[in-house]
Amino acid sequence: MGVYAVTGSASGMGRAVVDKLTAAGHTVVGVDIQDADVVADLSTADGRRHAIREVLSRADGSLDGAVLAAGVGPLPGAEKLPLIASVNYLGVVELLDGWRAALAASGSAKVVVFGSNSTTTTPAVPGRTVRALLSGDVPKAARTVRLFGKGAAPMMYAGSKIAVSRWVRRNAVTRDWAGAGIRLNVLAPGAIMTPLLEKQLATPAEAKMIKRFPVPVGGFGDAGRLADWVVFMLSDAADFLCGSVVFVDGGSDAYFRPDAW
Ligand code: NAI
Repeated sequence: MGVYAVTGSASGMGRAVVDKLTAAGHTVVGVDIQDADVVADLSTADGRRHAIREVLSRADGSLDGAVLAAGVGPLPGAEKLPLIASVNYLGVVELLDGWRAALAASGSAKVVVFGSNSTTTTPAVPGRTVRALLSGDVPKAARTVRLFGKGAAPMMYAGSKIAVSRWVRRNAVTRDWAGAGIRLNVLAPGAIMTPLLEKQLATPAEAKMIKRFPVPVGGFGDAGRLADWVVFMLSDAADFLCGSVVFVDGGSDAYFRPDAW
């Protein structure tokens, strides 16, 4: 049985992953801003340091895997742009950097990062937003999307998920990660029925956009089913999976980009 760190453990897909791993007999250290083994605000540098330290201490320096599910949606308001970037990007990459040695210690660790199909279905996300995030400059990333007005939050959300997916693909194949026996991959969901989506559906303008969005198989995804994918990506069956972005989105990515390959 393994020891796993799961961020976003209090709700939605992170919560569903915790339930499945625990039911299978694994030990899970959950991280969240509320209702978690390690309570930490991943939007702040202090909170991220606390999460790194506490997880390492509870896991006794060795992790069989990590699931980075904490995230915020495209929250409206210019003042929320840094929050979206900090939780969705820094809240993933800083934690993984801090846990890397513990993941390497287990010999064959697996990491699943939550991306999103917004990465390929949101048009015209500025390259400079993604570059600013990859260089760790959140204020600059926020400045690059402000000109979009009401569209700034979706741009920052998609930008944060593009940056985190690119970070995974760049690092997955290196000596520090693949070379240390750690498999880094991204799960990119479409619209999944969780509290995050429920909040968006409660806003009439957002609900209209979400309901109009093309999902070829129809409806919304189920959090428990997505958690099954995560558990699979943490299992031995995923030994040869490295740097992949796995879309589980009812066909929206294929709808918009049928000829991408
Ligand atoms: P959710 O809102 O149910 O769960 C997210 C969790 O992250 C919550 O427990 C929340 O407390 C935690 N969190 C938020 N801010 C935090 C902070 N500052 N510090 C620590 N924890 C914090 O959302 P859901 O849907 O389960 O999302 C999981 C992941 O999947 C997120 O990264 C999200 O961006 C991504 N995703 C979700 C989609 C959906 O339709 N639900 C679609 C595509 C991606």
